[in-house]
Formats: sequence, structure tokens, C-alpha cells
Amino acid sequence: MGETSYAYLIAGGSAVAVTLLLSRKYIEAMIRGDYGRKSTPTLEKKPKYHSSRDDPIPQPTPLYITPEQVSTYDDRPWRPFRWPYHQTMSIFKLDVNHWLDMDKYYVDYIKEKERVYHRYGDENIGWLPGSELACRELMDMVRDHMLKRYPLLFTSEDEGQHVKNELTGELLDMTEPLKEHPLIYVSKMAKEDFYIVLKNKDDGKHYLMAAAVPFPGGSFGIKNKLGKHLDIIHSEVPYYESKLKPSMEKWFAKMAPADLVERASWYISWDHKLLCNNVYALQDGAKVDSDIEPTEFNVRVERQTLRRLPKSDAIIFTNHPVFYNIDEMKDEPLIPSLIRKIIFEAPEGICKYKNFASFRDHLVPYLDELVQRQLDLGLITEDTPLKTLPTYPFSNFFKDSNEEKGWNNPVHPNNNYREKLEKEIKETEKKEDASKLV
Ligand code: HEM
Repeated sequence: MGETSYAYLIAGGSAVAVTLLLSRKYIEAMIRGDYGRKSTPTLEKKPKYHSSRDDPIPQPTPLYITPEQVSTYDDRPWRPFRWPYHQTMSIFKLDVNHWLDMDKYYVDYIKEKERVYHRYGDENIGWLPGSELACRELMDMVRDHMLKRYPLLFTSEDEGQHVKNELTGELLDMTEPLKEHPLIYVSKMAKEDFYIVLKNKDDGKHYLMAAAVPFPGGSFGIKNKLGKHLDIIHSEVPYYESKLKPSMEKWFAKMAPADLVERASWYISWDHKLLCNNVYALQDGAKVDSDIEPTEFNVRVERQTLRRLPKSDAIIFTNHPVFYNIDEMKDEPLIPSLIRKIIFEAPEGICKYKNFASFRDHLVPYLDELVQRQLDLGLITEDTPLKTLPTYPFSNFFKDSNEEKGWNNPVHPNNNYREKLEKEIKETEKKEDASKLV
């Protein structure tokens, strides 16, 4: 190769490196939620993670999507797979517009909430004395958020006294005195689960004082968690004391109403049930039935947010499940390899908590096939480093869409698990009723 060719090679290589660096910065900024904002010149050395107590609370901007658009609308495509995988808070700044998101299953979620409360009652919803102000403040905040953010999905002619949910068709009468508990109204507007946590002034601990949690996913109810503090609530959570608790306490001590964050965790199951997934319904040590097709396996992403209410000072923790079939992610570089790596090699406590051993041997030939497929298609090579995606916590097609269009998977744009979900719920009800008769 002559000198000129070397010069071209070096110039080309540098251009690629700079482009990669810039696009990484862009993605990181986008994920942090501050892309497009001018960076503020500051004398402070350390970045400012927390707002002041009285900083204005970010308000949502209107998104003019119609009920018809929502029926095919996909939420941001979560891919929260990390490698190396350690138990950490892994929180991101939350754009307030995404506090309560929309997707095509919205109506199914609201319907399922009603069924769960009706059938299982205080296992999934409850409140304790002392939570009144916080629950009421939360209801007002959710209502205001929905009216501002989704003007065509939630409408009111009397400044929020009556709110029409245009997706379910229900008119919510929120005039005084309220006809139902505020958490019921919240559950009729937002698809998320809500936990209301208050700090006890005497012992300085954070207690769960009210909760509307129809979709815990795991095998826990909230009846036994109400009135307990976060250390007790997280007692089953691996590495909580050593890894999570210290950062959580630091975060809560400074978290102001203007500080909104989100995170996502995940596990795998072979169904879409929102209340309790198959992987958590197995008895200790039991394995998945060998006749379950590997293509039935889903990643259930638990998308969570944290914010503080300004008047009651309550911490509001939301959680919402979204299912992604492994098959629908098969052509996204590294996803099958990451899943395979994590289910075998994550820290032992995490593998146990997520019950990976109940299905991983069954799933691994399929994952190996998918990894080989990625190699054959040139999506990855033997040398591609197995580590957290540059687009973490979202999929590689996140950047190709936006909030107007939704983030439909380009490979499976019409993906929909509604029918499966309905069938699975009916079958579970039947089984439960039959076992009651015995
Ligand atoms: C502040 C209100 C919070 C409440 C009420 C809450 C509640 C819960 C509950 C009920 C569980 C299930 C426990 C079980 O399996 O029995 C759980 C699990 C868990 N929580 Fe929290 N949590 C809160 C905040 C957080 C925060 C801020 C973090 C970390 C940043 C966190 C990390 C986890 C983790 C890692 C698990 C295990 C399941 C998973 O991998 O997501 N929690 N939490």
C-alpha cells in the first residue's frame, strides 16, 4: 500500500471514530433526556443530579394522538439487558412526558385492573390511615397529567371535575365528595401500578402506605407489604442490603419534586399474564413443561418510575409490564447472546430470584440457533464484544421513530398479544375455580 492510501486509511478511520463517539454521545444524551438542551456553562465541577426542593416541576406537553392511533401504538422499545450485570439502581432522568405512557394494550390493561381488583381485592389494592393526602394529591396529578399530555384521549368540560376517558368511554365523576377512593380513579386513567411511600419522621424509614398493584408479575401480593418499610419489602431482593439500599437512601434523601427518574428490570416467562407469570407460579425447583415451544418465551420488562409529590412529600413509585417475545428481537444485534449469557452467568442471587434455572436448559438450544443466525446474517461476528448495547436501555430501532408515530417494531409492526393474554387469563380463572371446588 502506498503512502497516499495510508493517509486515506488514517483519515477515514479517524472520521469513523469521531462519528461513533458523537453518535454515542447523542444516544447517551437522548437516554438521559437532555438531548437538544444547551449545556449550561457552570463553575461546578460535579454535575447537578438533584433539583432544589422548590424548583418548578416539569409539566407535560400535549401529544395529539387519537384513540384510533393508540390502537396500533407501541411504546418505547425497552431492551434493558446489561452485561456485566450487577445489581445497581440503574436509573435515568425521566422526561415527564413519559411518566404515564400509552400503548395499544391500554384498554386491555384497564379492563384487567378492574378484574383483578374485583376478584382478588386487597391482595392488589389497599391504603392505610395517613395516606389520604398523598392518594388525593396523586389522583389530581394523574388527572392533570392525562388532560395535559393526551388532550384527545382525556377530555373535560369543567376543568377536571368530570373527565371522559375517550379510550374506555367512561366518564369519571371526580366531584366532591369523591364516590370512590382516589386510587380507583387513578386506576381508571393510568395503566401503571402505583406504590405510595411516606417517610416516617420518628424512625426516618420509608413506609408503603397505599398501593394499587394489579400487575405485580411475581408471586407477591401487596396486602402483606402495606405498612412495611422498604427494607422489609425488599428483603427477598438479591443484594438489596449491600448494593441497592445505600444508593436508594442517598437518592431519596435529596429527591425533589422536580427530579423524575425511570428504570427497567426484566425477567423471562412463557406467558403474558399480568398478575402472576408462569415462571413465578412454579413450585420450588419445578421446571417448565418440555412441550412449551421456545418461541413462546417472552421477556417481561418492568418499566418503573420514581417521583415525589410536592404537598404530601410522598414518593410515588410506578411499575408497568411490557412483554417482548424473544422471537421479535431475534434480528437485533447481540440480544440473543446477551439473554443467553445473563440467564446462565448473572450473579447467583439474581438467577435464583428470577427463577432462570426453571427454563434455561430448555431455552438454550433455541437461543444458540438465534445466535448462529445472527452470525450467519453478519449481524454480529465472533469478535463482537458481548456487552451492554450502545442504545441501552432501548432497542436499536428506538432512534428511527418518535412519540407521534410510536415505536413499532419494524420487523413485526403488527405484533399483538391481546388474544393470547385473554386466553391465558380465562384458563387461569378456570383452574383457580376448579381447585376451589376440590
Ligand atoms: C420507592 C418505592 C419502592 C417500592 C414500594 C418497591 C417495591 C418493590 C416490591 C414490592 C418488590 C417485589 C419484592 C418481592 O419479590 O417480594 C420490589 C422488587 C425490587 N425492587 Fe423495589 N420498590 C421501590 C423502589 C425501588 C427502587 C428505587 C429500586 C432500585 C432503584 C428498587 C429495586 C428493586 C429490585 C431490583 C427488585 C427485584 C425485582 C427486580 O429485579 O426488579 N425498588 N420492589
